[in-house]
Amino acid sequence: MTKDSVVRGGGSPMSGMGRRIGWIASRMRRARRGVGIGRAAAAAGLVVAGTVALGTCGPSASDGDLEEGGISPRVMADALHTVIEADRTIYARHVVNRLQDEEGVIAASEHWLDDKALPLPAQVFRMGAELAAEKSDDFYYALISKWPINIQNEPRTPMEAEGLDSLAADPSRPFYGNETLAGTTYFTAVYPDVAVAEACVTCHNAHRDSPRDDFRVGEVMGAVVVRIPLR
Ligand code: HEC
Repeated sequence: MTKDSVVRGGGSPMSGMGRRIGWIASRMRRARRGVGIGRAAAAAGLVVAGTVALGTCGPSASDGDLEEGGISPRVMADALHTVIEADRTIYARHVVNRLQDEEGVIAASEHWLDDKALPLPAQVFRMGAELAAEKSDDFYYALISKWPINIQNEPRTPMEAEGLDSLAADPSRPFYGNETLAGTTYFTAVYPDVAVAEACVTCHNAHRDSPRDDFRVGEVMGAVVVRIPLR
């Protein structure tokens, strides 16, 4: 199931991809200058504090299988995704959908600061991902789609594209693989991003920059990518 592919940054016609890889590479350099906490310990502390024994951050696992005494990249990615998805669902249902679509109290807007509105779910997602990346070099996450409103959210690596194709064929199973970007190998997991509330589809279907106007509740609209450097 694990696939391998190599992507080189820089000089690529996909300049956005080069930027993302460059950004990943610069964070990796910072990480190598010395962050004293192991990947597994960081994940356990962040995600499942109290439920996983710490002090087991030995040599890195090189694939997605569980290693004795440690947390595998796959378990870590799944746990991170569980938290990311739960927060995203709650914000969409109980904040945006309730206050904007059901109660008509306040709208969600791309220009939320100027409009004194709620930030969009995707903006909340990105702000969280950026803040997390400032605090940790142990994982990265992003929201992507084959039908993006914002072209920046297109798949940028062959594995992201492959993951989206796999979810389109079978949304019940996440897609996992290893990919090498700018000299670093990552365990990459791609999970379906589902239209969990009416607000998801009404907003996307009506948006002038959306390439689709026929999303339905329950449908896969895109994907959450979780990427973990293997070192
Ligand atoms: C009020 C409008 C609005 C709502 C509600 C909304 N979105 Fe979005 N969504 C957007 C906009 C605008 C973007 C692009 C934002 C950006 O990247 O700056 C976006 C981005 C995305 C992306 C990344 C690909 C893209 O289109 O750029 C996905 C996937 C996505 N939304 C899915 C969802 C899901 C699932 C929900 C419900 C949980 C949802 N959206 C709710 C407007 C909305």
